[in-house]
Amino acid sequence: MKNHAISTKRTLTEYFAWDRTTRIFHWLNVLCVLALITLGLAIINAKAFGVTPEGKILLKTIHTYFGYVFVANLVWRIIWGFYGNHYAQWKSVLPFTTGYLTSLRSYLAGIHSDHPDYYIGHNPVARIMVTILFVLLSFQAVTGLVLAGTDLYLPPFGHEIKEQVTGAGEDHSKLAGVKPGSSENIDQAGYEKMRAFREPFVTIHEINFFVLIGTIFIDLLGVIFTEIREGNAIVSAMITGKKLFKSSPKDIKKP
Ligand code: HEM
Repeated sequence: MKNHAISTKRTLTEYFAWDRTTRIFHWLNVLCVLALITLGLAIINAKAFGVTPEGKILLKTIHTYFGYVFVANLVWRIIWGFYGNHYAQWKSVLPFTTGYLTSLRSYLAGIHSDHPDYYIGHNPVARIMVTILFVLLSFQAVTGLVLAGTDLYLPPFGHEIKEQVTGAGEDHSKLAGVKPGSSENIDQAGYEKMRAFREPFVTIHEINFFVLIGTIFIDLLGVIFTEIREGNAIVSAMITGKKLFKSSPKDIKKP
């Protein structure tokens, strides 16, 4: 997609940064992550809130449905990183491209000066933070899908998990009777093997949850700092797609 620069009365110049897909991904991701965090906290504190075992299964089920939307959105964004506009592409997002370290040094050196390096896409520090965020979100997605199977027998792995805990293998007549939270139709040896398998996934899902909250908090501070310091309208750019600059940004896409 082409940049278009429009001079405004305040001698600010407007550049197009985020394409529509990236903006929709961003806000859908915010909504899903907020819902998943809230429901996750309710699951962890279910006992303290006096939630019944059936209520807890319902909470986990709703959490999982939000999880499916979250995973689909994340996968779509990962694919979009190969097809989206210049600033949405992985080569502009991940901090592994040629010249990245030089740009990071220059950005850090200029942070406290009157002439900081401006970026239409993510600045070099934001590239590190966004990469960490994508990794954490991906961990949460993969472990969550495994837990949906081991805890609730939901897709994509629920069917195989049912086969294991009933010890029925391909004899599918027994599978319909297996319900989350119930020991009916369960083969004890198969069930214990499944519990041992799921243990590390629960641990990662829970620890990663707290790391994710900390990272989101640091990211938000970074956004506020950049907005105050550079005044490029980075928050509204996720709605309008456009950022404003006092001087020429470093990452203008050359035709
Ligand atoms: C940003 C994404 C996510 C966050 C912040 C999150 C957070 C949490 C938290 C805090 C818990 C409670 C852990 C505990 O009881 O120790 C939990 C449990 C669970 N999550 Fe997620 N989750 C996310 C994504 C997903 C996804 C994508 C799925 C599935 C599609 C999923 C499925 C589950 C299930 C089934 C449980 C219950 C596990 C259990 O109690 O044994 N989660 N999640």
